[in-house]
Amino acid sequence: MGSRIRHLLIIFFIQIWITTAQNRDGAALQALKEAWKNTVPPSWNVGSDPCRDGWEGIMCTNSRVTSIYLTSMQLTGGLPGDIGQLVELQYLALSYNPGLTGSLTPAIGNLGKLTNLVLVGCSFSGPIPDTIGNLPRLIILSLNSNRFTGSIPASIGNLKNLYWLDLTDNQLTGNIPVSDGIKPGLDMLTHAKHFHLGDNQLSGNIPPQIFHSNMSLLHLLLENNKFTGPIPSTLGLVRSLEVVRLDRNALTGDVPSNINNLINVTEMFLSYNKLSGLVPNLTGMNVLNYLDLSNNKFGPSDIPSWFSTLKSLTTLKMQNTNLRGQLPAALFEIPQLQNVDLSDNQVNGTLNIGLNPSSQLQRVDLRTNNIADFTQRLQYTIGLILVDNPICMESGVTDKFCSLPSNTTTSYSTLPNNCIPTPCGSGLVSSPNCKCAFPYMGSFIFKAPSFSSLGNTTIYESLRLSLMTFFQKTQMPVDSVSLMNPYRNLDDYLVLNLEVFPSGELSFNRTGILWLGFVLSNQTFKPSKDFNTYVFIAQDYDNFLSEVQVTGGTTHKSSNTGVILGSAIGGCVFVVLLVVAGVYAFRQKGRAERATQQSRPFALWDPASGSGGVPQLKGAKAFTFEELKKYTRNFSETNNIGAGGYGMVYKGTLPNGQLIAIKRAQQGSTQGGLEFKTEIELLSRVHHKNVVALIGFCFDQGEQMLVYEYIVNGTLKDSLSGRSGIRLDWMRRLKIALGAARGLQYLHDLADPPIIHRDVKTNNILLDERLVAKVADFGLSKPLSDANRTHITTQVKGTMGYMDPEYYMTQQLTEKSDVYSFGVVMLELITARNPIEKGKYIVREVKQSMNKSKELYGLHEVLDPTIGLSSQLKGLERFVDVSLRCVEETGNQRPPMSQVVKELERIMELVGLNPGTESSSSTSASYEVSGTDYNHPYSNDSLYAYSGGFLPAKLLQPK
Ligand SMILES: *[C@@H]1O[C@H](CO)[C@@H](O)[C@H](O)[C@H]1NC(C)=O
Ligand SMILES: *[C@@H]1O[C@H](CO)[C@@H](O)[C@H](O)[C@H]1NC(C)=O
Ligand SMILES: *[C@@H]1O[C@H](CO)[C@@H](O)[C@H](O)[C@H]1NC(C)=O
Ligand SMILES: *[C@@H]1O[C@H](CO)[C@@H](O)[C@H](O)[C@H]1NC(C)=O
Repeated sequence: MGSRIRHLLIIFFIQIWITTAQNRDGAALQALKEAWKNTVPPSWNVGSDPCRDGWEGIMCTNSRVTSIYLTSMQLTGGLPGDIGQLVELQYLALSYNPGLTGSLTPAIGNLGKLTNLVLVGCSFSGPIPDTIGNLPRLIILSLNSNRFTGSIPASIGNLKNLYWLDLTDNQLTGNIPVSDGIKPGLDMLTHAKHFHLGDNQLSGNIPPQIFHSNMSLLHLLLENNKFTGPIPSTLGLVRSLEVVRLDRNALTGDVPSNINNLINVTEMFLSYNKLSGLVPNLTGMNVLNYLDLSNNKFGPSDIPSWFSTLKSLTTLKMQNTNLRGQLPAALFEIPQLQNVDLSDNQVNGTLNIGLNPSSQLQRVDLRTNNIADFTQRLQYTIGLILVDNPICMESGVTDKFCSLPSNTTTSYSTLPNNCIPTPCGSGLVSSPNCKCAFPYMGSFIFKAPSFSSLGNTTIYESLRLSLMTFFQKTQMPVDSVSLMNPYRNLDDYLVLNLEVFPSGELSFNRTGILWLGFVLSNQTFKPSKDFNTYVFIAQDYDNFLSEVQVTGGTTHKSSNTGVILGSAIGGCVFVVLLVVAGVYAFRQKGRAERATQQSRPFALWDPASGSGGVPQLKGAKAFTFEELKKYTRNFSETNNIGAGGYGMVYKGTLPNGQLIAIKRAQQGSTQGGLEFKTEIELLSRVHHKNVVALIGFCFDQGEQMLVYEYIVNGTLKDSLSGRSGIRLDWMRRLKIALGAARGLQYLHDLADPPIIHRDVKTNNILLDERLVAKVADFGLSKPLSDANRTHITTQVKGTMGYMDPEYYMTQQLTEKSDVYSFGVVMLELITARNPIEKGKYIVREVKQSMNKSKELYGLHEVLDPTIGLSSQLKGLERFVDVSLRCVEETGNQRPPMSQVVKELERIMELVGLNPGTESSSSTSASYEVSGTDYNHPYSNDSLYAYSGGFLPAKLLQPK
């Protein structure tokens, strides 16, 4: 009897306990939903139990929330402390939500079961909380590409199981913490294979205690910080190391002599430091592929004997390292050698590249040395540079190696797979299988590839194949992938753009995107050893299939299966069927509508409203009010993306999936019918890659709307201010300046009639998915009629800070007013400051801080810190020169846009970028690839091997 009661009581309490725990999870997720307002997936609005009602991105076990995967969901808001209630949570993955801001809550330390904390590419700021050390099971900690400040918490040393630590690309300061018997430190992380701490402002010595023989590090990435003092000799104890990047710091002293104990190192960067003593002895580092020792303060050193013994070298960079003597011919016979840079040394004697130089040799840069002769002078073929050597000093020398080769940029892009690409609507991209779709896009950033030659298409092809193999094995809904535009950025990282195309549909659904984002941010995908360690940074994706589903009228409510993601196959088929049915009905309806419209394209045009005859349009389409209402979900609040004096801007989706931006004039600010007609006629004639295209208009039911292509990456202002999360380095800024200048030049010189923009500013320059600049908003534009080609007198309009003072005084508008505003935009591009900020005017600020006799004109103080290292801002002075000419007092002292364009093109060439139309070119890629190259890049590293199936738990659970 007593025992029965006890039994019942136990059951009763267990039930209470389970129920309250469940409620707590539900309440915590409600709090997240509140914090993220209406940016949560639509399925979160169904029901109140995240586990039972199948909220997307949530996984549960026994009705407790165990995983949150919300990568690339465009969430905005902060991470509330309520997250700490989800004590069963193992995975928290919120990468690629640049709208997530605020500090990382200390309550994160309550998640004692967390194994993966992956918050790549958000906008979290403030210090990393100390409580992060309370997560004993943590294996992957990726907080890279946020805005964290303060120092690295010593408590991270308590994370005994940590395997991957990535804090790259934040604003962290202070020392690397090491343990001292009282405090913990990173030296305690003996299981960690990856320390990625680059691109911060860490300082002080690299503590010797951090390296010891019990460490099992594979990758040590400390580049681009402010470390000082010597490289500790204890580094030689960590024999497992494969990649070492200590470049771009202020390290001093000798390179420790035991560095060549690190015989497994394949990539080593010690460049851009102040290292002294002799060039280190690297004999024995026989698997070294990529070596960069450039720009240090080494004393005069003889050409080292290891130059010809390191048989795996692809790349040898030792610019300005005080080397002297004659180069051995054997160096050039290293079989995989691709690039040698020994410029600015004292190499002397006769150059001999041997009888069998490496067939991969691309470039040998020996400029500014003492080479007097060249054995193969008559029959040389490689890209050899001997400029500024005695051999080229005699008058009348005409050898090709005595002039600088023109900088050719390598362009690569995956070729169509035996098919002819179809032209796609904007926003849609033709896949390698020639289907138009919305790809998931982003950039791979490889921190230490084994190669330096960017023209080898086979290597990209092998990466493409390994990605496809990976997506197939994990049963991701991927049709194909495309890789393009490889380049080396200022940190010498290899950047390669990726497009992933959905299979069978126009776009991915949310589940597809959050998985893709997760596997690419969690290092689940591993490329071959050639590419080595990477990060992936995704662009926003906002064409989710489920949204089409909602428009089609079917609201999906998941059955009571609990785990929507886990219940995979059956559920998926059901959802897909629903979607297909929805899309089909939707398309049929669209077809019928299109048919009526094509027969009477201007049925809606009403001459009686004082709008004159039917407008003469080139390619612009007349939309009915009802259509636009539908495409914007009844001009809903969520689709409202901006406002101006004239009214609102809405985002919409055409039935073919194309995104559009609709400018809807407010009641009261509509123009007369005739003016509206003139405006759309004018705008419909404007067609240029760097100008936002008009797709159509609506002149119906008393409304006036202009329909433009939607430009995904928003305004240049957003990117410069950091709001968009897109980082603009100097190269990107140059390309954007040139693109916008070309757009303006087109409006001035080639549009018919010519157009003066009148409101050029960073808010009116938009960036598309490839960061191509597009000039937008001709709200105030004025065509020049023949009678007043040179100027028109008008009421002054424009934006303070960008406005031409001459125009302001005289009210005479010419193209040169746009040139002035563009000059201000250029200054904003390099400073990221508002034209008028705290009462200071950018033009005056730059002029006052400028000192032409100094490097970078002494502008370091006013430059935007995120533009890149000052040593790499080639052409910046010329850029400043051009912008200051644009903001001259009077119009006739300013250059026309055509000249601005030419000047920017020259700067691009100087920097080594191809100013041409870089997007369309592609080299011929070979499809011959030897097998499916699928080595693991991190040796002994089977931790994240997947075992097939789309069951994420299987896919991701570490073994
Ligand atoms: C070096 O690499 C080899 C081959 O990958 C491996 O067997 C060996 O264990 C590595 N050495 C160390 C010290 O990790
Ligand atoms: C470089 O190191 C190797 C191996 O440790 C040694 O045999 C050789 O003598 C050293 N060379 C010089 C110039 O010190
Ligand atoms: C090259 O430089 C080395 C070291 O400075 C010197 O000993 C040698 O004589 C020079 N050779 C020639 C041919 O100038
Ligand atoms: C090519 O680029 C290099 C390095 O970026 C630069 O030093 C060189 O001057 C450029 N050459 C030309 C002809 O522009």
